[in-house]
Amino acid sequence: MGSACFQIERNEPDLDILQAEAKIKELRETIEKHNRLYHVEDNPQITDQEYDQLVRDLKSLEERFPELITPDSPTQRVGGEPLPFFVKVEHKTPMLSLGNAFGADDLRDFDRRVRQGLGNQTVRYVCELKIDGLAVSLRYENGLFVRGATRGDGSVGEDITQNLKTIRTIPLRLARPVTIEVRGEAYMSKQAFEKLNKERAEKGEALFANPRNSAAGSLRQLDPKIAASRQLDIFVYGIGEVEGERIESHSEGLNTLEELGFAVNKERRVFDDIEELISFVETWTEKRPTLPYEIDGMVIKVDSYAQQQELGFTAKSPRWATAYKFPAEEAVTQLIDIELSVGRTGVVTPTAILNPVSLAGTTVKRASLHNEDIIREKGLMIGDHVVVKKAGDIIPEIVNVLPERRTGEERPFEMPTECPDCGSELVRLEDEVALRCLNTDCPAIIREGLAHFVSRTAMNIEGLGEKVVAQLFAEGFIKSVADLYYLHDRREDLLKLERMGEKSVDNMLASIEASKDNSVERLIFGLGIRLVGAKAAKVLAEEFGHLDKIMEATEEQLIQIDEIGPKMADSIVAYFQLEQVKDLIEHFRQAGVNFEYKGLRVEAGADLPLSGKVAVVTGTLASMSRGEAEEKLTLLGAKVTGSVSKKTDLLVAGEKAGSKLEKAEKLGIKIMDEEAFLKLLETGEM
Ligand code: IVH
Repeated sequence: MGSACFQIERNEPDLDILQAEAKIKELRETIEKHNRLYHVEDNPQITDQEYDQLVRDLKSLEERFPELITPDSPTQRVGGEPLPFFVKVEHKTPMLSLGNAFGADDLRDFDRRVRQGLGNQTVRYVCELKIDGLAVSLRYENGLFVRGATRGDGSVGEDITQNLKTIRTIPLRLARPVTIEVRGEAYMSKQAFEKLNKERAEKGEALFANPRNSAAGSLRQLDPKIAASRQLDIFVYGIGEVEGERIESHSEGLNTLEELGFAVNKERRVFDDIEELISFVETWTEKRPTLPYEIDGMVIKVDSYAQQQELGFTAKSPRWATAYKFPAEEAVTQLIDIELSVGRTGVVTPTAILNPVSLAGTTVKRASLHNEDIIREKGLMIGDHVVVKKAGDIIPEIVNVLPERRTGEERPFEMPTECPDCGSELVRLEDEVALRCLNTDCPAIIREGLAHFVSRTAMNIEGLGEKVVAQLFAEGFIKSVADLYYLHDRREDLLKLERMGEKSVDNMLASIEASKDNSVERLIFGLGIRLVGAKAAKVLAEEFGHLDKIMEATEEQLIQIDEIGPKMADSIVAYFQLEQVKDLIEHFRQAGVNFEYKGLRVEAGADLPLSGKVAVVTGTLASMSRGEAEEKLTLLGAKVTGSVSKKTDLLVAGEKAGSKLEKAEKLGIKIMDEEAFLKLLETGEM
């Protein structure tokens, strides 16, 4: 790393305001220059420590002269407090989407249409990578970043300025004082995505399905500190409106954006010939896995603005551009082994262990096989070459075997008859494909049960990830979930464990202590009663108000409740009759764990916007979990159920909504996408 070419004298107590102003200006320019060198040009010239020192110097000067703080100061990237909601922003020039092309012939058709539309003039195209992230618009007035918004429905988006300011590739001040609205794609690199998911997995938090969802989820957070903690980036690819610059073509526009200080993707090329463009697209189809970020295709645009104008738009998209979509990514690798794991309910699940292969942005090493039948259906043998596919999911799947690549060395796989963990005989329950271990003392079942108990959706004990739970269990500190609440007596012993410092032990004990105050549905769900999911736990808590009442409830009382069927009622009653469960509950009671429901109970008869309505949430939402969405609907007065029926009034459908969406469409039920749902939450109007 070259030595820093700046000199700052620290601790200058007698600086007057004019000198401070000059110094602040110099520091800001230096910081933004190095920011650009690092984040946009990928050419860092000072060390991280030197950079941090510059920011600290600026901060301390701004603290001494707060009147000199301006919104474009690099110290203001993460400034604001959480917002109550996002304000709507109208896009003066609509943010359109693109028509799709799925192969070389579609691209030739596009070229033919363009030429026809232009009366056979010569055409030049710009071909760019189609970054897989979230479309945003950035507005600058006189060179200052004033507002950033999501695309929304194309005409109206949401103001996410606070979050966008945290992206270091977004300049807060441009190289020239222009007024311009720029469009681009905010994204998360593959590396940042993997790191984030790894951290989330360690904390027992839900994983993001892909970098696009995690970028979108991060930018839809009301608290800018969350976006700041995620490593987001941007590439800009177009201009919505500009004042005072003469730009005649898209390629010129991209160069101007670069000059102004934006990150524009370097892999763009200009073509006069569609066949050459097609080879470029094909090269990228191959090279795509080598990129540090995800792309889902290529974008082809007519270069000349005059020609773009002549071609105009259809109802939905410009005639002068198209998006070439890559086929779903597949890869061939070898099945090294099939590993078996015992879940908290005793179900034994086989997982394929694969020769690591890079696929759709992540390295794939494992694929779930779900159950024995799937292994048999696919005819899998250990050592086989297999095709793996990842259609946006975290867990990839094996599509098929390549029998022609067999060498004779492959071995058939036999499901064991005994539990891989405790050796008890495995049982296939009636109507089930899964094999189960029924030994309640099986160490794997207990360990998994513990991990479930502390997880985010159950007792949410931060600082107690899956690994620590396994360690505490292996070392004999906890044998049952209630033992967690007696760990504070063993602080000294805990300190002797590997990787357990004072701070981590104290944090862990404090979060265990804090979890005692949870509303009781978390405890009920955490117990892991067969068939009782988070939703049912909530219903039980709401209906009965106290754990003791649930323990006393009869099957008849339980099935009176809408969401609880006879099988679940039977499972609940049987569970609380077990002596060991009664002991466990007494342990919790003595430790002072809360047994009451503390959540909001929507008063019967209250006049809320969704009172009397039945709602279902399906698919993945980018801005919140399904549980959060259900909670918000409940607070608006809706009754939330798990399945779509004639009684359903509203289906909130996120991405990858499947059969529930189909059913709702058939039944003519009102369907809301995420955008409409967020609007409903804001306005209370359906
Ligand atoms: S141009 C009218 N260029 O793909 C032109 N879009 O449907 C509009 N995207 O929502 C877009 N990379 O968010 C363009 N280099 C690129 C792009 C790109 C990603 C996204 C964009 C838009 C979608 C196209």
